[in-house]
Amino acid sequence: MNLPKEGRDKQEILAEMERYRTGDIDYKKGKIFSLIYDHSEEHTAFLKKAYALFFSENGLNPMAFESLKRFESEVVRMTAGMLHGDSETVGTLTSGGTESCMLAVKTYRDRLLKRRPWIRRAELIVPESIHVAFEKGADYFGVRLRKIPLDGNYRADVLKIGRKINRRTAAIVASAPSYPHGLVDPIPEMAQLARERHIPLHVDSCLGGFFLPFVEQLGYPVPQFDFRVPGVTSISADIHKYGFGAKGASVILYRDIDYLKHQFFISENWPGGIFASPAMLGTRPGGAIAAAWAALQVMGAQGFLHNARVIMDTTTSLIKGIENIPELAVLGKPNMSVLAYRSVDEAVNIYAVAEQMEQKGWHIDRLQNPAALHIMITPRHQDFIGQYIRDLKDSVEYVKNHPGLELQGNAATYGMIAKVPFRGLIKKQALKMMMDLYGPEAKSIDFSESSGGIAEKIGKFFIKKR
Ligand SMILES: Cc1ncc(COP(=O)(O)O)c(C=O)c1O
Repeated sequence: MNLPKEGRDKQEILAEMERYRTGDIDYKKGKIFSLIYDHSEEHTAFLKKAYALFFSENGLNPMAFESLKRFESEVVRMTAGMLHGDSETVGTLTSGGTESCMLAVKTYRDRLLKRRPWIRRAELIVPESIHVAFEKGADYFGVRLRKIPLDGNYRADVLKIGRKINRRTAAIVASAPSYPHGLVDPIPEMAQLARERHIPLHVDSCLGGFFLPFVEQLGYPVPQFDFRVPGVTSISADIHKYGFGAKGASVILYRDIDYLKHQFFISENWPGGIFASPAMLGTRPGGAIAAAWAALQVMGAQGFLHNARVIMDTTTSLIKGIENIPELAVLGKPNMSVLAYRSVDEAVNIYAVAEQMEQKGWHIDRLQNPAALHIMITPRHQDFIGQYIRDLKDSVEYVKNHPGLELQGNAATYGMIAKVPFRGLIKKQALKMMMDLYGPEAKSIDFSESSGGIAEKIGKFFIKKR
């Protein structure tokens, strides 16, 4: 495919783009439970305006566009206030949760190596349920991840942390809450241990940062996770998730500048000039920064509180609905609007249930270790959750009455993928899938039941995780 010889008609281009999206998931129908954190049409229209106002501006040079620097500083201050930081709390905006988490890996690695330059490989202690962005960060930055198992309630097992601490430990990381199960780790206990051993503690609150404070205000029991806990040294919180900003916005906060300084990158000899950068990106899209500020302004504390009420009501109905299905059980006691459920009946394979749900039009995210299905609630879901529960009930019954479904089709493949002991094989197939997707033919993956080999199935199983 070549560039069009001459520029095409704008209307024609836009019409073609609209046609291309007909095959996309229609998230407005509330049948998807990941990827989109959707508030309302009106909110989205407002964000687009805010984004468009600063469409061309670039946050790369904080001195060039004072407006963007102001938005960034104010977003940092508002987030710090919400998470009970103080006047010493500092931070930066980033492009999203992954950047915030990866920056935490880099910051704590550099902090450790500055103090102990003889150490060859820094280590991070993380629960098994930590977001995969930390694994990615560790991989990129040459850090070793030491994983700690979860307790019976799918939270980090604090008793197992002490043994992993050594002179190479750069930081401990906790989730508030974890992506897979929606559980907040025992942060006060982890922080106490971290303090005793003089180790920083990062709280990954990409999911909960803009939600848990309001869930707490509503009177739900929320474990302490923010700067009120002595020993918490940094927090990541995504604006493009429950902060309802435009995509491309997250905040990373540090208790004081002594931590943040290790995040910065400075090159003093580059022929292009002296270069100083606060976060990972070079060019930083002004639109996302502006929309982040605008989102917090338009929501306000009352807006977030109202939103939390709606979402928690929906979540409570959902949990009740799942608990009324005897063959299913929610994993642990989720702290907010993200949760997973599994089968507790041998005759009901959860991946087979997922297949049935997908036949009814739902987009289902599958988990592994243990096999479970995942849900993340947004305001969009309140009108759909009754139907979800009815369909779930029917799907469970269908699977129960049709033994052997777990041995057929995608359910069998997913079961196999989740259980294959040779994880290297799965990794190899996933790599093949990526090479197909991004290779010269840029093959698209056919998700239909009959088609595709294991690499395609892996694509469906894993690629949607977010
Ligand atoms: C707990 C947690 N941390 C980090 C991330 C990564 O965020 P992003 O997808 O914005 O890069 C996610 C994404 O869902 C998450 O749930």
